[in-house]
Amino acid sequence: MHVISFVTQKGGSGKSTLAISCAVRATELGQRVLILDMDPQGTAESWYRDRDAIHPKLARIHSGQLATALDGARKQGFNTVIIDTPGRDEPATAAAIRAADFVLIPCRPTPGDMKATPPTAATVARLGKKAAFVLSQTPPRGSRLKEAETGLSMLGMVCPVRIVHRTAYQDAQGAGLGVTEFEADGKAAREIGALWDWITNKMEKLSDGQEANVA
Ligand SMILES: Nc1ncnc2c1ncn2[C@@H]1O[C@H](COP(=O)(O)OP(=O)(O)O)[C@@H](O)[C@H]1O
Ligand SMILES: [Mg+2]
Repeated sequence: MHVISFVTQKGGSGKSTLAISCAVRATELGQRVLILDMDPQGTAESWYRDRDAIHPKLARIHSGQLATALDGARKQGFNTVIIDTPGRDEPATAAAIRAADFVLIPCRPTPGDMKATPPTAATVARLGKKAAFVLSQTPPRGSRLKEAETGLSMLGMVCPVRIVHRTAYQDAQGAGLGVTEFEADGKAAREIGALWDWITNKMEKLSDGQEANVA
């Protein structure tokens, strides 16, 4: 069972959006997926309530319930667990990082998000976890992007797939869907497909010891 956590102290950077659409994508690829929503705001849970499909499954938990939830997930045969975390609750964030095989740190190319990433990166490094930054809600192109990428690469690995600001992410979420369901041949669906492929590929290589952990 693989555990992937979406973490960063900055609210609004795209944790829930990416967690939801990645969970749907993994489900489409035949994985048995559980989303653990650790955010008291319950963004993922409210998305789930608007959803008709049964998979992926979702449970809302607090940090004290994480170990039991993961144990249960393993026993029930889930092969992928995706953890969505709150922006500020440090116990939940640290617990989600500790439980993860791979940590994704969404970051908008803005000064506010860039300033908020070093503490998250430091916690990840302290706990010895594999992690990568994902640029989120980006403009389609421009020098701002390159600058953000360069800045983040000094702190750790940066995912080469960038998540552009697109209404499909918002509309899919409102409809209880992942972007790959909402608009299967759209640009957002392609981004999520590429992001999920990159995550699974990277996790495999890191666990095989084929690649050094640079985060
Ligand atoms: N790539 C994107 N394009 C457009 N809107 C986005 C994108 N990612 C997130 N959003 C929107 O930004 C807001 C915050 O995103 P969310 O995933 O809830 O952030 P977080 O979970 O980190 O607080 C939401 O309204 C969401 O729909
Ligand atoms: Mg959220």
